[in-house]
This record gives sequence, C-alpha cells and structure tokens, in this order.
Amino acid sequence: MEKKYIIANWKCTKTIQDCLSWVDTVGPHVNASDSYEVIVCPPFMALDAIRRRITDEGYALKVGSQTVSSFEKGAYTGEVSAMMLTDLVDYALLGHSERRSFKHETNEDVAKQVDLCVRYDIEPVVLIRSVEDTIPESVKVFAWEPVSAIGTGNAIDAETAGETISQLSHNGHVRGLYGGSVNPSNIASFMQHPNIAGVLIGSASYEPSTFMEMLNALR
Ligand code: PGA
Repeated sequence: MEKKYIIANWKCTKTIQDCLSWVDTVGPHVNASDSYEVIVCPPFMALDAIRRRITDEGYALKVGSQTVSSFEKGAYTGEVSAMMLTDLVDYALLGHSERRSFKHETNEDVAKQVDLCVRYDIEPVVLIRSVEDTIPESVKVFAWEPVSAIGTGNAIDAETAGETISQLSHNGHVRGLYGGSVNPSNIASFMQHPNIAGVLIGSASYEPSTFMEMLNALR
C-alpha cells in the first residue's frame, strides 16, 4: 500500500529556532515504518537548517517548500526558484489559496511552477480550492482545500471530502489530500477514508504538542 501523506504547513509563523525545536520534538516519534509520510513545510530561510538537522538526527521526516517561483533564474529580486531548492526539498506546495488571493497567483503561474519542479526533481503538490483550479498533467499529488474550511475551524466532513476528492482525482489517476481545519479530533476520519491520500494541516501543525496529538489519534 502506498503511504498516505501528512503535510505540516507552517506558513509565516516560525523562526529558524522554532522550526528546529519542532523537528526535535516530533522527529523522534515518526518512524520510517509508519503508514504515513510526514512532510514539514518551513519558511524558506529555515530549509537548510531543517534539512541538516533531519539528516544529522536521522529523523524520518520529509521536507517541502511552501511555494516556488514561476521563474527559473534571473533578475527577479526576492524570488526563490526550484533550481535553488533542488537539494533542499523533496516536495513543494504550489498554488495555496493564500497565494492565489494575496499574491494573485493564477493557474498559469502554478503550471510554470509545476514544470520547474519536475525539471529540478521536486515533487509538486498542487493545492486547489475547487474544480476551477486546474491540476496540470504531470502532477501526481494534489490537495483539495475549500476556502470555507481554511483556518476557520469548519472542516468538511470526511465523507463529503472523500467524494469530492475522488471526482477531482480523475478516477484515481492523481492522489488527493484534504486540507482545511484538520485537527486532533477529525484527522483519523480523513486518514482512514479510502479516497483520501492524506491531509494538509495549517494551524493545528504549528504547536508540536498539537501535532503529536494528531499522530497519537492515528495509533
Ligand atoms: P488550516 O490551514 O489547517 O489552518 O485550516 C490549512 C492550509 O491552509 O493549508
């Protein structure tokens, strides 16, 4: 059986030190034999330190970026590209609804990011709000995050999420995660659903203790 995913999206909330203490708290409790893969998505400036800590301590954690640039390289002040991230991350979250709204990222931008990730050997995870947000051909993993559920405490129930994800996943050709107000009380319902390949967690992933409660809910 393919492993499910648990993705922790820390957004714009942590210093490098905060990120390191999170992995030192949670890392020892994640095992390579678990039925799920835990992927942490720190802010860019913490990626190098996190990567080193995970390697040095042998934690079974994977690393993702929260976005990548739509540009490959060149005179694009402030951008961080897939080329620059190639040895730092295993995954990249692309097209988060927050980036689509306040950075005005479009489906075309996300498609360029996907191509660059594929070129630089980074697995793209495309985040969609609804069927209006397209999933490019080469993508193998997406996450459905309805805007009404992000950061509101109003998660979609697992049955409805499972149905929507199976419709969006082109009959299972791509693996679909659910995201939006996942917490210790509802995580098991999503993780156990046969059509849902995992969860993408924002606020409930910030505190290592709450994250541990979620892992414990699955054991
Ligand atoms: P939330 O965020 O878990 O705080 O709802 C999810 C996300 O934005 O990825």
